[in-house]
Amino acid sequence: MQGVRRVVVTTLVENSVDMLLADGPNVTRAGLAHHFDPKKQNPIAENGLALHVLLEWDRYRYRILFDTGMSGLALLHNAAALDIDLQQVDHLVISHGHPDHYGGLLALLEHRSAPLPISMHDEAFTPRYLRLASGQLAPYYNHGLTRREIEARGGCVVGHDDALEVGPGALATGRIPRLVGFEAPPQDISTPNALIQVSGGRMCPDAVPDDQALVIQVGDGIVVLTGCSHAGVINTVRRAMDLTGRQRVLGVFGGFHLGFPGTPESKTDATIEELRQIDVGMLCPMHCTGMVAAMRIRAAFPDRFLLNCTGASVVIEA
Ligand SMILES: [Fe+2]
Ligand SMILES: [Fe+2]
Repeated sequence: MQGVRRVVVTTLVENSVDMLLADGPNVTRAGLAHHFDPKKQNPIAENGLALHVLLEWDRYRYRILFDTGMSGLALLHNAAALDIDLQQVDHLVISHGHPDHYGGLLALLEHRSAPLPISMHDEAFTPRYLRLASGQLAPYYNHGLTRREIEARGGCVVGHDDALEVGPGALATGRIPRLVGFEAPPQDISTPNALIQVSGGRMCPDAVPDDQALVIQVGDGIVVLTGCSHAGVINTVRRAMDLTGRQRVLGVFGGFHLGFPGTPESKTDATIEELRQIDVGMLCPMHCTGMVAAMRIRAAFPDRFLLNCTGASVVIEA
């Protein structure tokens, strides 16, 4: 796969917004001047993730949307507030079948006039439940995600298990092998916070096999965008390196899944050690990483950490 010259990752939807964060050498934000300008709209935060990815090479441009946030409300509002035209998106990649990542999908399709190819795994449609800390089950964990509803609105589901090229220099990983011991998912569906799926008519542990990442090759390096990293952020980055044959990881953006209730701090420490070995250039843990784990990552990599919340655009060049 040939890399692009430049990528711009704009955080359309994320758990937080902060108008006081300053711009940096490679990041611009919807900051104080934007928020106080009466002619502009302010981006809003919600517990979800959507990243707009602009790829540039030669004189061409290509746009990928990675996830759609929890609601069309936030996705469409923030796109307008940040001057991003969702009509121009060439391809959508859904990381996995959880509502904080596909929740804005139907509203996005209704907003658009052109059909939209959608990379996602068939198991994203699997019925799911969550066991609450009280021991009861929460239904509706992936309510509303059906092929019928998507295709009725112009979405073209491209179901895949293997990696899929979704644009120039862009690869959706497909299923991510679970190789790292400390990232193995829990197997007991009776414990609090257990993820459960219904397969073959039976309830069983949900390892979220549909979980995938988006990998952008920029020059001879790669940028990895993760949704929730249910497969484990280290498994995900290593899969991206294997698929592209590239060892230089320029950046990792997205949920690192270290903030989920019950996650031991030792998992964060082990993750930091692996990230150090991989020598990741820029770390942007967001969303389900959790504030505590994100601050530990910041302390471990003060020069490589970027606090990336709603409204930020990060440029990475070859
Ligand atoms: Fe998530
Ligand atoms: Fe998730």
